[in-house]
Amino acid sequence: MNKIILGDSRDPNNYQTDFHLTITSPPYFVGKEYEQDYTFDGYKDLLKSVFHNTAEHTVSGGKIAINICDIAAFSKVSGRVEENIEVSRDIVGWLKEDDCHLLSRIVWVKDSPWINSQQVSYNRRIPATYIRMLPSWEYIWVFYKGDSPKRDDVPSVTQVVNKEDWKKWVTGVWDMRSVSANRDHPAMFPQELARRLVLLYSIPGDTVFDPFMGSGTSAVVAYQNHRNYAGIERDPKYYDLATKNIEKVEHCIKIPLYVPPAEYGHERLY
Ligand SMILES: C[S@@+](CC[C@H](N)C(=O)[O-])C[C@H]1O[C@@H](n2cnc3c(N)ncnc32)[C@H](O)[C@@H]1O
Repeated sequence: MNKIILGDSRDPNNYQTDFHLTITSPPYFVGKEYEQDYTFDGYKDLLKSVFHNTAEHTVSGGKIAINICDIAAFSKVSGRVEENIEVSRDIVGWLKEDDCHLLSRIVWVKDSPWINSQQVSYNRRIPATYIRMLPSWEYIWVFYKGDSPKRDDVPSVTQVVNKEDWKKWVTGVWDMRSVSANRDHPAMFPQELARRLVLLYSIPGDTVFDPFMGSGTSAVVAYQNHRNYAGIERDPKYYDLATKNIEKVEHCIKIPLYVPPAEYGHERLY
């Protein structure tokens, strides 16, 4: 617990604790440098084995939140100029085999990609009817492990999230800017995305896991919000980055716990 492992999350020996919540964003198979050694079949094997290992170590009633976009493949896989292949459907099926069931689907609405993209553009060389969507949104799939998403060791929702946030978040449409690819890491998700998942799907003292730790966003947010963290990252430069990012917040005061208004009472002290 409270440890990031430098290693491969396909290897079951790198899972050294059980967890209540996973927040992760796997590679998307879009040509990033950390995907270069995966063939498409190898990429699917990666997702299958990592989510299998993750499910094995999720407590009953625990949650697995996966941020992913179905933009994998294109010509590299099918030989066609362009073909959009669904990966999410496979993930839902694989996790079902591991007793993990879909609870929520969230759409994260990001900034418009056409502004900077070279892959789609509005110009005279593009034939009419040849329009490929370049989505300004991604999925977050939330699964629960076991017979029920309910846990018997937790207070009510009114004790952990305020009503204004709950009203906005429970729509399942989350509007937030993405983090620009930068020299530190090419594909970080926003801290706000992790924060909402941490507050909605775990309680203080729980353990939050990320098998594709990257720059350490899930761990940083978990720590700041009074949760434990665990994770795996195979690239030494991102492992170092995540470790440094966590060390930075470990020297700071944590975000104060939510205190519900008197009308909701205090069901339990953490
Ligand atoms: C989309 S990024 C995750 C970014 C992270 N959510 C953040 O906010 O920084 C995916 C990460 O998975 C790592 N990765 C790829 N294959 C891996 C494997 N087999 N085991 C562990 N990490 C892996 C990559 O090095 C990359 O840092």
